[in-house]
Amino acid sequence: MLTIALPKGRIAKLTLERFEHAFKEKFEFQNRKLILKKANFKFLNVRNQDVPTYVDYGSADIGVVGLDVLEEKSYDIVKLLDLRIGKCKVAIGLRQNQQLPYDKPLLKVATKHENIAKRYFEKKAMAVDIIKLYGSIELAPLVGLADCIVDIVETGDTMRENGLKVGDTILESSAYLIANKNSYTNKKREILKLKELLDGSR
Ligand code: PRP
Repeated sequence: MLTIALPKGRIAKLTLERFEHAFKEKFEFQNRKLILKKANFKFLNVRNQDVPTYVDYGSADIGVVGLDVLEEKSYDIVKLLDLRIGKCKVAIGLRQNQQLPYDKPLLKVATKHENIAKRYFEKKAMAVDIIKLYGSIELAPLVGLADCIVDIVETGDTMRENGLKVGDTILESSAYLIANKNSYTNKKREILKLKELLDGSR
């Protein structure tokens, strides 16, 4: 039995579709249920940012999670496969007609991705005040909370519709299959078989 942590929403749906394709049966969470048992797998329905935690602590053998989440914190896990779903980028967002004010002594940056943002501006030797937000990041520059944002861009619609433009890309992201280190040793055959199946079913 393999326990698999999936991030609530679209990525979970797309991943389960790969299981359906590979195993020729229906894989679907029942309404509010957080656990789905099917065909020797136990799926856990968890928040995106919590997937690596379940895998790191061994409550899940494997998981599916965005590279942006993996890059934001350090986890002691094995990265197995780029599933090439959930493609997006972490990018700078600025008000239209604005450039990044490189000469500002302290740039205010609003983001959910604190560490990714910190590393990016450190490399550019720019002093920044990182303002941690949990959502609706696009609002921050519009009301003067921040000079710019660092956020996920998929289509770019959210930024555009809020009068922002997409600036430099910091990270290209997609969903990865990850494994707990002990599980990867103890259940290697099972895990590699699944990796192959998921790789081959796209
Ligand atoms: C992300 C991000 C943007 C939006 C970008 O939010 O924070 O708001 O998607 O997508 P777009 O470029 O296609 O408009 P998400 O839906 O992941 O919700 P969250 O902020 O709750 O994580």
